[in-house]
Amino acid sequence: MSLSFTVSTTAADRVAAELLAVPIAKGPEFGPGADALDAALDGGLAAFLDEAGFEGKLGETLPVPTGGRLKAKAVVLVGVGDPAELTVDGVRRAAAAIARRAAKVASLATTLATAGTEIAVADAAQAVAEGLVLGGYQYLEYKGDATPSKLKKVTIIAAGGAPVKAAVERGAAVGDAVTWARDMVNLPSKEKSPSDMVTEARKLLRGTGVTVQVLDVKQLHAQRMGGVLGVGQGSEQAPRFLKMTYAPTGARGKPLALVGKGVVFDSGGLSLKTPGGMETMKTDMAGGAAVIAAMSTLAALGVKTRVTGYVPLVENMPSGNAIRPGDVLKIRNGKTVEVLNTDAEGRLILADALSLASDEKPGAVIDLATLTGACMVALGDKIAGLMGNDDDWSNEVRAAADRAGEPVWPLPLPKEYRKQLESEVADMKNIGGSYGGALTAGLFLQEFVDGAPWVHLDIAGPARANADDGYLTKGGTGFGVRTLVELARHYTPTK
Ligand code: BES
Ligand code: MN
Ligand code: ZN
Repeated sequence: MSLSFTVSTTAADRVAAELLAVPIAKGPEFGPGADALDAALDGGLAAFLDEAGFEGKLGETLPVPTGGRLKAKAVVLVGVGDPAELTVDGVRRAAAAIARRAAKVASLATTLATAGTEIAVADAAQAVAEGLVLGGYQYLEYKGDATPSKLKKVTIIAAGGAPVKAAVERGAAVGDAVTWARDMVNLPSKEKSPSDMVTEARKLLRGTGVTVQVLDVKQLHAQRMGGVLGVGQGSEQAPRFLKMTYAPTGARGKPLALVGKGVVFDSGGLSLKTPGGMETMKTDMAGGAAVIAAMSTLAALGVKTRVTGYVPLVENMPSGNAIRPGDVLKIRNGKTVEVLNTDAEGRLILADALSLASDEKPGAVIDLATLTGACMVALGDKIAGLMGNDDDWSNEVRAAADRAGEPVWPLPLPKEYRKQLESEVADMKNIGGSYGGALTAGLFLQEFVDGAPWVHLDIAGPARANADDGYLTKGGTGFGVRTLVELARHYTPTK
């Protein structure tokens, strides 16, 4: 259930809401609204903080008894650390902490958006909205004893007028898109066949100004998409290819192309994974979900440039009809690939997608893929690996990810490793040697990009969280949606 937001300049002690959340800086020092609360408590707030041992650390929370002396029925304090060091991402985290405290009330008001001294109120207000939506996220579809959050209405207390209102709307829209991506990742694979994914994408994109084109098996053959067809042939659930186009009136220049890996379940194929290795493989469509979700926000956010989305959708299964180690597939651009490990399937379907994207002459390309366990070995499970063929574009993506609060870190595409992909029988093989697997996967993808700046984000780690953490909830994270939205918002086509 999505939250509805209003922006108001009503004083904290006068605002009508079941719960009021007030920031406290480290010290502890009163944040905005705390003076009014203190007055209502006859000056007892500082002593109360002291008794409770509340230090104002970022994300710390403390309920305060108000004895009915404020308009709000209850108050919760939230720590924000040093106001001069409070970042937009810190605001998101503090907001998430509030959301976790607000699950039992229907309405919330907060002064959190004005707690930082070095960040713009509009940016902070957007982060409050995002943090509340994301921190309050729950996946309860299959829980018999579910207690869904009651929170529905949020009042963000801040001056600043229309720009702040627009920022809050943006935060809510982005939060809702991330929620959709999380829901799709958390959904069991039996409910999200390639054709189910298409149905869900169409539902999400209805009325958003995005046109959807779907290739079925016959059309995949016509497009010579040997990677998608080859990986998909072992499953009872036929593959699809989803293409999305956002072309606002008056847009000029080449589109930004978003590409996402859409493996709805990765068993490994005949190169079968272990049971443990398969446990989380419903997550293998997280890149595709992020692309679809980001596309859904563009019109609402007023993006003025063209954006295209490409999501190859397959289930990677072993069967009497599956591709075998040693089989050779012909990718859409004519290159042949010897498949030595059927578990290196993501690159095969992305190869077709990058080839199609390249043919449509984009100004820049970014792909998101839960591509390699090796990337998790390199960067852990919170940071995405960033590889690319153009430093300016890589820097633009890094800057967008930083603004969005999604950690990415550059990895190289070393020319001298390219020979690891040489095949005896085909133009290349689909695996490299024992080490540097994230890089050889990136080098493989690079072969299918033609004539455009390109960035590859390996999101194998951050696509899932193994525990609640800040505004992340255990399970699918929706990683990448915010970076893609931020990229699209600032993208200016060269020609
Ligand atoms: N989807 C996996 C990558 C993955 C692994 C994501 C663990 C998240 C957690 C991908 O398709 C895969 O199986 N990659 C192989 C490549 C190898 C066979 C070259 C891997 O990383 O082991
Ligand atoms: Mn795999
Ligand atoms: Zn995979």
